[in-house]
Amino acid sequence: MGMIKSQKEIIEISKMAELISRLLQKSLSWVSPGMSTFALDAMIEAEIDRMGVVGPCKGYEGFPAVSCLSVNDQVTHGIPDGTRLQEGDIIDIDLVIEKNGYFADCSKTIGVGKISKEASRLMSVTEECLSRGIKAAMPGNTLGDVGFAIQSHAESNSYSVVRNYTGHFIGLDMHEDPMVANYGTPHKGMELKPGMIFCIEPMINQGSRGVITRGWDARTRDGKLSSRCEHMVFITERGNKVLTFH
Ligand code: MF3
Ligand code: CO
Repeated sequence: MGMIKSQKEIIEISKMAELISRLLQKSLSWVSPGMSTFALDAMIEAEIDRMGVVGPCKGYEGFPAVSCLSVNDQVTHGIPDGTRLQEGDIIDIDLVIEKNGYFADCSKTIGVGKISKEASRLMSVTEECLSRGIKAAMPGNTLGDVGFAIQSHAESNSYSVVRNYTGHFIGLDMHEDPMVANYGTPHKGMELKPGMIFCIEPMINQGSRGVITRGWDARTRDGKLSSRCEHMVFITERGNKVLTFH
């Protein structure tokens, strides 16, 4: 898989990124107390059909749904089920779409109704981590610079960075190599070059970074909250362009 995308690929992937951003915004607006994650996934699937695109998560290595819906201590890959959302929960909606072989991936965590100050601070810091990662994603910088920017901000707010899951390159597949870690050492790792497109998706834990994974389900070991948000970033000659929006 080419790490440097062609002009045509960049155009097509950007179109998918715009579509997924609108889909994510809609999906987030549907979140309400009392709704099951299964019902939310069904609404998202209906919208994906209406848009004339495909939700490639469904059927991917046995994953049963178009969306990954991770609530509270769930870190990622939450399988939509009968669990009803409650006021005070936080939920990460993580979506992937595909059309004509071009992929887009985007995610955001929001609160259900009124949430605690602690939950809200975790979500804000996670978004700041994403912004800092994006700022570091400059041509000539490295993946280590991106990871370091995220990790240092999370840890200076006394949160921890999940190691078990990372961001990734994207475009002609849902996950392309290399991975984009949310931790790292300045100046280490692969150098970023114009034409690269990848997802930065910090997964930040309120407590310690340990994760327990059973099948798809991934939860914090200590049962505390985890938050995540994700953008697709395109490296340009002089900087970058964030292809998705929340
Ligand atoms: N957006 C998710 C990720 O990058 C996609 C997971 S694949 C799925 O981790 F099958 F779990 F949906
Ligand atoms: Co992703």
